[in-house]
Amino acid sequence: MTLKNTNPSKTAAWKKLQAHYQETKDLHLKGLFAENPQRKEDFRIQFNDFDVDFSKNRIDATTLSLLIELANEVDLKGAISSYFGGDKINATEGREVLHTALRAAADKKILVDGENVVEDVQATLAQIETFTHKVISGEWKGHTGKAITDVVNIGIGGSDLGPQMVVESLKYYKTPLDVHFVSNVDGDHVTEVIKNLNPETTLFLIVSKTFTTQETISNALTIKEWFLETATEADIAQHFVAVSTNLEAVGAFGIDPANVFTMWNWVGGRFSLWSAVGLSISLAVGFDNFKNLLEGASKMDAHFETTPFEENIPVVLALLSVWYNNFYQAETEAILPYSQYLEKLTPYLQQAIMESNGKSVDRNGEKISYQTGTIVWGSTGTNMQHAFMQLVHQGTKLIPCDFIGYKTSLHGKEEHHNKLMANLYGQAEALCNGKTKEEVLEEMTGDAATVEKIAPFKVFEGNKPSTTLLIDKLTPHSLGELISMYEHKIFVQGVLWNIYSYDQWGVELGKVLAKKIYAQMTT
Ligand code: F6P
Repeated sequence: MTLKNTNPSKTAAWKKLQAHYQETKDLHLKGLFAENPQRKEDFRIQFNDFDVDFSKNRIDATTLSLLIELANEVDLKGAISSYFGGDKINATEGREVLHTALRAAADKKILVDGENVVEDVQATLAQIETFTHKVISGEWKGHTGKAITDVVNIGIGGSDLGPQMVVESLKYYKTPLDVHFVSNVDGDHVTEVIKNLNPETTLFLIVSKTFTTQETISNALTIKEWFLETATEADIAQHFVAVSTNLEAVGAFGIDPANVFTMWNWVGGRFSLWSAVGLSISLAVGFDNFKNLLEGASKMDAHFETTPFEENIPVVLALLSVWYNNFYQAETEAILPYSQYLEKLTPYLQQAIMESNGKSVDRNGEKISYQTGTIVWGSTGTNMQHAFMQLVHQGTKLIPCDFIGYKTSLHGKEEHHNKLMANLYGQAEALCNGKTKEEVLEEMTGDAATVEKIAPFKVFEGNKPSTTLLIDKLTPHSLGELISMYEHKIFVQGVLWNIYSYDQWGVELGKVLAKKIYAQMTT
């Protein structure tokens, strides 16, 4: 089955939502809270170690039920079963979208062209496990007999952002190996990364689904050249491994077939960290932690696949996003993790979200007349409070925010953690309630004329939406849940907008032109 083809703006639910928006757009969150003392409980989903408070959004019970009506009208339920069942829902590339199979239980059967892909996944996981143990234990030796101390992941886009984000986020669980990332074709990047590395004790992972990506191949060739300054071709086998679907190109690069980890066309690049693309993760935090990451994702998969929409975290987050994007005409969303470990989460999500849903042609091949992909941006709290939050609080734009926080800190610095979390709650409350002129005047002292003149600048309108995601602790398991949650939010949005979320034709033209211009520059 392919995905249905329904223009959301022509549905009955959409029209009702437009009318509902006109009726409710001037309501203030403060009023909604005053009216319903149960509001915090009414708009809250608890699942496993996740507590999602979406009460500070500009919705009421009717909004949510109309959004769910929209989801039903576009047959979200059918789409979810096509997604998990391995239908070719990436229709423009004729592919399945099965990153969920990468974390499926070992005894599950998911068929692609009659083959159970879960068996292939398990075989690759076993290969990752063996390899990880060998490298971490020191059994795997470099060409001069020394154990590996450093690992360099050479990749870009999905072959870089996902693994890098997870490695950074899980630094607390680090093995003795130091993992580095080279992505940019800017030679300064590769130079900076290798300048302090010892080729005798460094392992290079060339990660490229296609093995044709200009940046990755250029960086891999530069590194190979640098490596060969002090080693021979025969030593490459101990220092270079590849992750790719293009086994022919990997062989041509000179990599030992025994050191190749396969991936599959049914995994999109930006959803591939769960596959062998995550080899750097396994080396950085150990295979057991990598497995825990997959298990967390799998838990969220099950929640998403089976939970009624009103209690379904990814569905509710996607519906809220559509509400703001298509009815409030909000153009951006901010993702604000209150954990320094999650510094790379937003750049990772920018690719996942914007490469997926930045589309303007619907599943019919026709130009879309409504807004699709939101612009996603953000950074970690509390740093960002001293950077861009002014605009969110007092600027002219409506920017829905996701605040992500943890109940427990990893290093146990209680005082710091309490301050951190107090800031998170403080931001969400300030955005929601704001501060009236009366409240400002009450606080101000001094001569009446100055007070009257300055007061307007100190007023906060409030009524700025946010969702707070409180998670017990940053672990591989909860990180897996978090990433999977956003992956499914992306899927739901794509279904609602009637677009194909899993191709990325928009990046091709620039690539082709860069190659052409490069050829002209060098002839
Ligand atoms: O930028 C486009 C893109 O195709 C991404 O989707 C992908 O993650 C990245 O390039 C890297 O591709 P590859 O893994 O084939 O090198």
